[in-house]
Amino acid sequence: MENCPRVAMYSAQAYDIKSFGQHNLSSQVNITSFETSLNTHTAALSQNTDVVCAFVNDQLDAAVLNQLKQQGVSHIALRCAGFNNVDIDAAKSLGMAVSRVPAYSPEAVAEHALALIMTLNRKTHKAYNRVREGNFHLNGLLGFTLHGKKVGVVGTGHIGAALVRLLTGFGCQIYCYDPYPNPELEALGVHYTSLETLFSECHVISLHCPLNEQSYHLINADSLATMREGVMIINTSRGGLIDTGAVINALKTHKIGYLGLDVYEMESELFFRDHSSEIIQDDVFERLLTFHNVLITGHQGFFTEEALTEIAEVTLGNIIHFAQGKADENRFLVNPLAM
Ligand code: NAI
Repeated sequence: MENCPRVAMYSAQAYDIKSFGQHNLSSQVNITSFETSLNTHTAALSQNTDVVCAFVNDQLDAAVLNQLKQQGVSHIALRCAGFNNVDIDAAKSLGMAVSRVPAYSPEAVAEHALALIMTLNRKTHKAYNRVREGNFHLNGLLGFTLHGKKVGVVGTGHIGAALVRLLTGFGCQIYCYDPYPNPELEALGVHYTSLETLFSECHVISLHCPLNEQSYHLINADSLATMREGVMIINTSRGGLIDTGAVINALKTHKIGYLGLDVYEMESELFFRDHSSEIIQDDVFERLLTFHNVLITGHQGFFTEEALTEIAEVTLGNIIHFAQGKADENRFLVNPLAM
């Protein structure tokens, strides 16, 4: 189809290509996909395109945005919710549109956070292997009853709120911290508290706030010192919320009793690729893997069929609408049409 937006899709995996293909049936958008991530070395691949479609670990700093602008790109269509990897001020001054998918199945990420809590606690991943090997000993598999425990949810936007709703079903005492409390959650009986109270009181702490200057290394040596001995920390948000060195020290002193991560500060070097025949050079990551009470998944919280459908539909909608001179306010972080 002539005059349809030309899109360069970076960090494209087979499942992205499939779901975008399924939702682009009338070929209103002309997509060229690249498996490589976007950075200063790969930006040149998007010559002669109007839109760059990017994911969580693509680099969209001022240098890359400048280069894309010079090549004629006018729209960065993020196919994710978080935008900590985009220099929004640079995009504004270059007059480039930036859109995202604000909420694609928040329940998918909340359910993954719950899966990390339950797996770390009841050790089903270890039991699975043990039973397959004919070992029916229970030693080392002792868990705790989640019912009645204090669970802290940091950030009660789409995903945090979905987790709160799940946890109410478990009969947990739920402590929340968010600069903008949600009255609907208060009506469910959760306590909005200070971050200090949440940290010092809770048995389980799950992070659901965005990564920004205020939240960078929210979990650090000082905040860890105020927490319960044996606290469980879950991060499905962004790796930079956690000072990994401080967390390793806290695991060694038993301050942290359980750690569940779906994100990692240096994940862009590792995640979404197969490194199984290589020697991984990241010693910090490898140290994390040595702890029996650490469970890491590779940024798969979003990865459900429903979420992939939502991502493809909303991203394609953003691209087509912007090309037609329309932009949905909620989905555009920078909207030159309104400037
Ligand atoms: P959201 O924008 O709906 O909610 C974020 C909430 O955090 C808001 O209520 C906001 O007021 C609050 N907040 C902002 N700064 C805070 C701070 N310093 N301390 C406490 N709360 C703060 O975002 P949503 O959709 O709930 O996503 C949360 C995060 O989850 C995203 O920023 C993204 O990084 C991550 N994410 C991870 C995925 C995965 O696959 N693991 C998938 C999608 C999102």
